[in-house]
Amino acid sequence: MPMTFPPAPVAFPSSRPRRMRRSGALRDMVRETTLAPVDFIWPVFLMAGTDSEETIPSMPGVTRKTVDRVVAAAKEAHSLGIPAICLFPYTAMEHRTEDCAEAWNPDNLTNRAIRAIKDVVPEIAVMTDIALDPYNINGHDGYVEGEVIVNDRTVEALVKMAIAQAEAGADILGPSDMMDGRIGAIRTALEAEGHQGVTILSYAAKFASAFYGPFRDAVGASGALKGDKKTYQIDPANRSEALRMVARDIAEGADMVMVKPGMPYLDVCREVKDTFGVPTFAYQVSGEYAMLQAAIQNGWLDGQRVMLESLLCFKRAGCDGILTYFAPEAARALANG
Ligand code: PBG
Repeated sequence: MPMTFPPAPVAFPSSRPRRMRRSGALRDMVRETTLAPVDFIWPVFLMAGTDSEETIPSMPGVTRKTVDRVVAAAKEAHSLGIPAICLFPYTAMEHRTEDCAEAWNPDNLTNRAIRAIKDVVPEIAVMTDIALDPYNINGHDGYVEGEVIVNDRTVEALVKMAIAQAEAGADILGPSDMMDGRIGAIRTALEAEGHQGVTILSYAAKFASAFYGPFRDAVGASGALKGDKKTYQIDPANRSEALRMVARDIAEGADMVMVKPGMPYLDVCREVKDTFGVPTFAYQVSGEYAMLQAAIQNGWLDGQRVMLESLLCFKRAGCDGILTYFAPEAARALANG
C-alpha cells in the first residue's frame, strides 16, 4: 500500500510522540523552525539634534535618537548580526506642511541618517518608509483635499520622496502609504533615474489597525491625525483583498512584501507565503510591542520567553523576517543561548 500523506496515525503505544520531546537534544533534532538575528529588521525613530535620546512612554525601552545615536545603533545592530535597520523620522512641527515638501528634501532627517549610516556601517541594509504622514500637518499618509485623501497627486509626491531616499543611499524602500499605483510609479522612476538596484519592500497587506497607536506617538502624528485611515488601509476583516494587494504589488515591481500588523494576522502571512512564494515579512507593530511590554513590566509574562516565542511564530507562519522593536534585545538573547 502506498504511503498517504499525512500518514495514517500510528496507534499507541507504537507511537508515543512524547519520546521525541523527552530531552533537549531530541527536541533540537526535530525543531521545524529557527529564529536568528538575520531574521530581524530593526525599526528606529530619528529626531533632530546631537547626542541625545527621548523616551516614548507608550513604547518602554524604545527611544527617539539623534542621527549620531542612530549611527551608533546601526553599528550595534550590525555587530549583533541584524542585517537591516528601518528609519522613521520625528519631524519638527515647523517642517510639517500641507504640501509635505520636507518629504523629498535631500537633507531631511531620514536622508541625512541614511548617508551617515552608509558612511560608517556600509554593510547594514538601510530601509526607509515612504508615506507622507511624518510631514503632513494632518497626519495622513496622503494629501488631504477637503475630506478626501487624494490618490494620484499623493503618488507623485511619494515618487519624489523615493528618489530622494534612493539618492541618499537607501537599500530598501518601504512604501507604507497604501495609495493605488505607487509601487509601479516608484519602480518606473527608479529605473529611469539609474537606481535599478534599489529594492522595494512593499507594505502590501497593511490593515487599518488600532495597533499603530504608540507608533503615532513616537513620530508625533497622534495629535495631528484627523479621522482615520480606513479609506486607504485594508479592512481587518478582509483576507482575499489582502492577497489581491500582494499580487498587485508584486506585479508592479515589489521585490518583497509585508503583512502588517503581525501577530493578529499570522493567517495572512501563511497564505501570502504559500500563494506567492516571494520574500515575505511581517511587522510586529508598536501596539503589539507595547502590549507585551506592559505585561512584562507588570511581571505577568516572562519577558525573554514571550519575546522570542512571539518572534519565532512569524517564522512558523512562513515569514522570512520580522520588523520588530525587540530586534537588538532578541539578538542578544539568542546570542546568549
Ligand atoms: C506610516 C506608518 C505607520 C506605521 C509604519 N508606517 C503608522 C500608520 O500607518 O498609521 C506603524 C508602525 C507601528 O505601529 O509600529 N505610514
